[in-house]
Amino acid sequence: MNSNNLITNSYKNKPSSLGHSHIVPLDFTNMVTVPDSHEWVTESVPVIDLSDPNAKTLIGEACEKWGAFQVMNHGVSMELLNQAELEAFRFFSLPANQKLRVLRSPESIIGYGVPRISSYFPKLLWSENFTMMGSPIDHAAQLWPDQPHKQTTFCDVMEECQKEMKALTERVVELMLESLGLTMEDLKWHSRGQCLFTLNSYPMCPEPERAMGLCPHTDTSLLTVLYQSSCTGLQVFQDVIGWIPVPPIPGAIVINIGDLMHILSNGRFKNILHRAVVNKTRHRVSFAVIYGPPSDEMISPLTKFTNDEHPPLYRPVNWKDYIYSKALHGNKALLHLMN
Ligand code: SIN
Ligand code: FE2
Repeated sequence: MNSNNLITNSYKNKPSSLGHSHIVPLDFTNMVTVPDSHEWVTESVPVIDLSDPNAKTLIGEACEKWGAFQVMNHGVSMELLNQAELEAFRFFSLPANQKLRVLRSPESIIGYGVPRISSYFPKLLWSENFTMMGSPIDHAAQLWPDQPHKQTTFCDVMEECQKEMKALTERVVELMLESLGLTMEDLKWHSRGQCLFTLNSYPMCPEPERAMGLCPHTDTSLLTVLYQSSCTGLQVFQDVIGWIPVPPIPGAIVINIGDLMHILSNGRFKNILHRAVVNKTRHRVSFAVIYGPPSDEMISPLTKFTNDEHPPLYRPVNWKDYIYSKALHGNKALLHLMN
């Protein structure tokens, strides 16, 4: 990765127009709309109260119709989410040379850099990312070598937030599986499931309608549990309507179904195509737990969903090979896997 691709200095320089490297191609511009936060379209992904006795059924329906939903009463402390948002702002607001101490190396998924999906978008994205797996203690020591209290605060908040969001992830996976008549035992790898915790930053952008925060993509994961703070930006693609904003609802957490859940359910659950747009006046951060199997796991549609009438839509694949194919082919990776 080339560190010049990062937009990290834009906080200081405050450019008044966009450089060519970030102007999205014409065939993408008609897809970029910056929603007015007061004029939400009437329809968006469902909001599901996890304390509702019907939650399991509602989740199943949302996964089939949308591939995304928001959850309330999810058990993740609001205070913790606010603290994590503050720590994320603190991290991304550090001077560039300090953040570059934890620059992601090309062979790693951990560390600071441009979003990993950048590789299949022709222009630079207006965002930065910091991904952790487990404790960020080593990174914190590099970031603040002489300030142990900053290391401790960052690590305590990130570890606790990761822990609570992971617990929510497992609860939602269980409900999703139950809605399909399955249990966690049907995911042979569930006790070895892996979580990435990733922070996204979308600085204020001088020409938001010509830039892209995160290009349209589906998540590779089984599912992604995302806190998008109070700032609008996340949009999902719906076949009939087109791009629809997912409004930030106070206290809500977004669940996005990824490619893996789509594959396992033999196409029954949608893997939601989504993107993040940017805005002129607010620096937005979001953060997510990304959940999937260990890298050596073989994946294929579960036999429960296949029969003579519904043959497997996808061939078995090693999880790390699929991740590699996604990095290479982007959203077309699933097509390459089709029977
Ligand atoms: C993502 O798709 O990973 C993040 C989307 C967002 O920032 O809302
Ligand atoms: Fe995503």
